[in-house]
Amino acid sequence: MLTRRRFLAASALSGAAILARFEAQARFAMPLPVPQLVDARGSEASIPLVLAKSTHAYRQGQSVSAMGYSAPVLGPAVRVARGQRVAMAVENRSERLTTVHWHGLIIPSAEDGGPHNAIPRGGTWKPMLPIDQPEATAWFHPHPHGDTAPQVYSGAAGLLLIEDGSGEQLGLPRTYGIDDLPLILQDRWFDRSGAPVYDPSPMEIMAGFRGDTVIVNGVVSPLAQVPAGVVRLRLLNAANARIFDLRFSDRRAFHVIASDGGYLSAPVAVRRLLIAPGERYEVLVDFSDGAEVVLESGLDDNRPMMGMMGAAPPLIDGGRVMKFAIDRSKPATASIPKSLVPVSRLDDGRIAARRQFLLNDMMMGGVGGGMGGMGGMGGMGRMMGINGRPFDMERIDVETRLGTLELWHIVSQSMAHPFHVHGTQFQILTLDGRTPPAHQQGWKDTVLVTREAQIIVPLTQPAPRSHPFMYHCHILEHEDAGMMGQFTCA
Ligand code: C2O
Ligand code: CU
Ligand code: CU
Repeated sequence: MLTRRRFLAASALSGAAILARFEAQARFAMPLPVPQLVDARGSEASIPLVLAKSTHAYRQGQSVSAMGYSAPVLGPAVRVARGQRVAMAVENRSERLTTVHWHGLIIPSAEDGGPHNAIPRGGTWKPMLPIDQPEATAWFHPHPHGDTAPQVYSGAAGLLLIEDGSGEQLGLPRTYGIDDLPLILQDRWFDRSGAPVYDPSPMEIMAGFRGDTVIVNGVVSPLAQVPAGVVRLRLLNAANARIFDLRFSDRRAFHVIASDGGYLSAPVAVRRLLIAPGERYEVLVDFSDGAEVVLESGLDDNRPMMGMMGAAPPLIDGGRVMKFAIDRSKPATASIPKSLVPVSRLDDGRIAARRQFLLNDMMMGGVGGGMGGMGGMGGMGRMMGINGRPFDMERIDVETRLGTLELWHIVSQSMAHPFHVHGTQFQILTLDGRTPPAHQQGWKDTVLVTREAQIIVPLTQPAPRSHPFMYHCHILEHEDAGMMGQFTCA
């Protein structure tokens, strides 16, 4: 199922050559890069972000072209405080029209950075972000209609660390880069020069484009040196389509302390953690035994009409993602708290409206076009949609009332879709008819819908017709192909 370019690259290498290439790569040789911390707390000045082409080595010694926000790849981690207004100045020095969306922020739609906030080539966008939500890890990435997947794949994505003092009060690890590490998880196809290749076939648009190599903070199989204590990992799945099925090689626990929109009521220990595109989980990991451990990811079997087509490529190196080694010279302090920040359940007796969203991902029974569209992206666009309609920037799909709660029932047609809503943090009422697992009972902005989910959505931010909010699948090929809709809130 490879496109011609990747097939030629792959067939030129025998099994032995692939192995040799891999050994030469010297597994876990690169230190984990940590995105630059930009502290915007209390700052009146605007924070500059420049999206531009660059060069970067994803693999050791192979410098190739990449893209980032004021960085060779990815972008900074911008620390902001609840209660402040942050001025941003985003300059587009790339060759394409872009937008920058603040994924996870609960702010008015005019500042949200969706497809309606276009930044032309050479342009600068200056939104003002009023930060008023609990401590959480959010992120930002391009969101231009029809071009989000290639731009994110090229390297554009950064972090927003929202603070309200609660993590400090709880005594959570908070020394950025030492015992508080962001891990931005992505996957790529690399050609022989070490450059990521993005050329999805029609089948890969349908299943989502997944590479065979994981990168963390922009590099292949890095090594993190951590103190012999409790370390906080801020996990972000910024892959186009791959669902990471994370575990440690020795099966030690992830103590999940936060989901997309903030802390859970109490840590939840899991040995396996599924994280879908767009999602964040913050976890505490206990390294006090001093042992080295490898973070691994299992198979991602998510594809339309299971077993028939579009199987994801297995990960090279058996899914070994990165290694943690212990540096005893680093200060180890924190322990794992018993409880965190109480999450009050949204009251499902106060629902103002109920809606259903069917995520259309199939050729048959979809919208127009039928098999005739198999030849290219345009045809694919006609198959992908929500409630039978592909995305249209000129059409408002849903009108909501400001200050109300709604119950949204999301149904996946033939594969799992990570459903994301802008301008809010919601709660999951049911997942496939059941109460969600404990680590999914907190604030979420993205939910992996295997078959169906019910979510309670608070509508607290205004969205006029000129700047509606988006809801969409966060498999970026699906989003670009039309699995997205827009809503107003007034
Ligand atoms: Cu992270 Cu609408 O996206
Ligand atoms: Cu978003
Ligand atoms: Cu999808």
